[in-house]
Amino acid sequence: MKIAVLPGDGIGPEIVAQAVRVLNALGPKFDLEEAPVGGAAYDVAGHPLPPATLELAKKADAILFGAVGDWKYDTLARELRPEQAILGLRKHLELFANFRPAICYSELTAASSLKPEIIGGLDILIVRELNGDIYFGQPRGIRASELPLFKGAREGFDTMHYSEPEVERIGRVAFEAARKRSKKVCSVDKANVLETSQLWREVMIRISKEYPDVELTHMYVDNAAMQLVKAPKAFDVVVTGNLFGDILSDEAAMLTGSIGMLPSASLDKNNKGLYEPSHGSAPDIAGKGIANPLATILSAAMMLRYSLGMPAEADRIEKAVQKVLAQGLRTADIYTEGTQKVSTVQMGAAVVAALS
Ligand code: IPM
Ligand code: MG
Repeated sequence: MKIAVLPGDGIGPEIVAQAVRVLNALGPKFDLEEAPVGGAAYDVAGHPLPPATLELAKKADAILFGAVGDWKYDTLARELRPEQAILGLRKHLELFANFRPAICYSELTAASSLKPEIIGGLDILIVRELNGDIYFGQPRGIRASELPLFKGAREGFDTMHYSEPEVERIGRVAFEAARKRSKKVCSVDKANVLETSQLWREVMIRISKEYPDVELTHMYVDNAAMQLVKAPKAFDVVVTGNLFGDILSDEAAMLTGSIGMLPSASLDKNNKGLYEPSHGSAPDIAGKGIANPLATILSAAMMLRYSLGMPAEADRIEKAVQKVLAQGLRTADIYTEGTQKVSTVQMGAAVVAALS
């Protein structure tokens, strides 16, 4: 099994190192090959997604990704910014289905800013479309406005669109996922305002007929943002477009106490995937040894389950993570009084020790 390891920027290298350590401790021999990505790749190769990195990602069976982005690249032209690396990988590899679970571990309910009764036992799955929407829509740019009131002034514009097949394929992914859970899908859109959303909703209703055992509901995105903090446990699988999913998945992640706990998977139609923590590169804490490696370690578990066909090994990692939490070990982001604060490396070592 060939795994492309792309650590990236900020805390990326520190947390990926701990996930690699856990993979190496499992027993089976993985062929791990590392390559630079994001700002780190710009520094050595002049581009956030150099051809050699893209080639490696294409030929690997799965990709373990850290995070990209650092303020020091903010002044670069947009096509050279670190974020283009992750957008490019998603697009070039057609990784259209993004799974972002938001699970609240019982040991961590105190770390959430919401009341324990609201988030205790939370387990929802956001299925976000990753290849379309306003993220990639053309035309886009900055031009002179044609609006009578502002004629000639500079205006920025982007294009939101979704074709029926794009909505169908992400819809099916969500319905299939719901079948393995509590058989509920909530499709989130803005159909009261946007044409794109109106078509999205029509397609979701049409394909729902193929899944009579799954209940489909619809919610406008503004209401969904509200319900997520009011009664998050009312959701099970949420399916939504690229932009709404970007925003709602951060919100859902933070419900659980720390975004430092949550893994994610981005899959193509054959379940080849890129696995990354839901959080970003956090350049403010990079190099301090305090980042939480658990989201990346849990992403490696998802990789074993979804792309490499090794569910038993995935279970072992997830159980080991539960065990270190039960032991009271916490990185700074999830620390509460009465628990034991550990570093990134100590957390990785504890998970390795808990594997057996
Ligand atoms: C994410 C990130 C990316 C996105 C950025 C880094 C381009 O926020 O994975 O959610 O907007 O998709
Ligand atoms: Mg995001």
